[in-house]
Amino acid sequence: MIDLRSDTVTRPTEAMLESMREATFGDDSRDGDETVRKLEALAAERTGKEAGAFMPSGTMANLVAMLAHGSRGGEVLLEEGSHTLNAELGGIAAVAGLFYRGIPGKRGAMDLDLLRESIRPLTRHHMGTALVWMENTHNRAGGAVLPVAHMRTVYGLAREKDVPVHLDGARIFNAAQALGATVASVAQHSDSVCFCVSKGLSAPVGSVLCGPAAFIERARACRRMVGGNLRQAGPLAAAGIVALETMANRLADDHQTARRLAEGFHRIDASLCDPKDVETNLVRVDVKKSGKRAAQWSADLKQKGVLVAPADIHVLRFVTHRHIAAPDVDAAVGALAELWKKK
Ligand SMILES: Cc1ncc(COP(=O)(O)O)c(C=O)c1O
Repeated sequence: MIDLRSDTVTRPTEAMLESMREATFGDDSRDGDETVRKLEALAAERTGKEAGAFMPSGTMANLVAMLAHGSRGGEVLLEEGSHTLNAELGGIAAVAGLFYRGIPGKRGAMDLDLLRESIRPLTRHHMGTALVWMENTHNRAGGAVLPVAHMRTVYGLAREKDVPVHLDGARIFNAAQALGATVASVAQHSDSVCFCVSKGLSAPVGSVLCGPAAFIERARACRRMVGGNLRQAGPLAAAGIVALETMANRLADDHQTARRLAEGFHRIDASLCDPKDVETNLVRVDVKKSGKRAAQWSADLKQKGVLVAPADIHVLRFVTHRHIAAPDVDAAVGALAELWKKK
């Protein structure tokens, strides 16, 4: 099977498995664990923040960020296609007690005029803005990279009104790679940032939330409240350390295979996708012209040995990662081409 459903399917490297075996087994929530502390310090250094807290998942890191930034009952402003609004089961309202306003955007970047108008203080008539939120890379925008100038403007607008900014950087290492920049230079346009070691970086589990030291202390309490308190997490943190130390640079390969995939699909039919839209490791393919739904395409491709997830009624999302090489890409393109002829 050629598994293009997600970069979360990546298996740990031999070096990760080795480091997991040798990791410490301290109780992170009681006396602390040396390996977890090392991962958190490394994550803080890479993101240019004061401190970090290891989290079981990106979803929990985002949820804890909302809780730790506080202002229950306030409004969160975020791009309307963001993962948090569309795929985190409403934790923003159901758990964090925040209201939200989806700001329309292009390729994951919020419309700045709408954002400017929407940031406001609490009055008798309006809920105040609790938090401004960005996502980079942007999942539903096909792995689009937010331009640094856009991030700078968003951060500036929020700061003018004393509103904190969180960056969902689940794939920020992909963003930095595509920009040819450091992760810290991307994350500097936010107060807090989280990223996943469990995706293209190939560790089995985990994310790290980073930000100012006092914020991270609150985040540790909030993590406990939502059941994410960690015990002997050393082996998971050990894999995360290897992920940060050895896996970031190779993400460029995933971006190349994604581009090759998009070019192959484009050759089959230009309506399927535009390779120019592919900046990182996600490729959205629009199958509407076939008259068949994405779920049907997913089932048909599976019969041909290609696993891919529907992202919308007529959109398939292909994700490249460490286990996908050029021949896999060509086989996937071949499988879709055959089905497209018979459609
Ligand atoms: C942008 C973004 N944020 C958050 C998450 C959630 O991460 P997790 O699956 O670890 O909860 C994802 C997962 O795909 C994501 O793409």
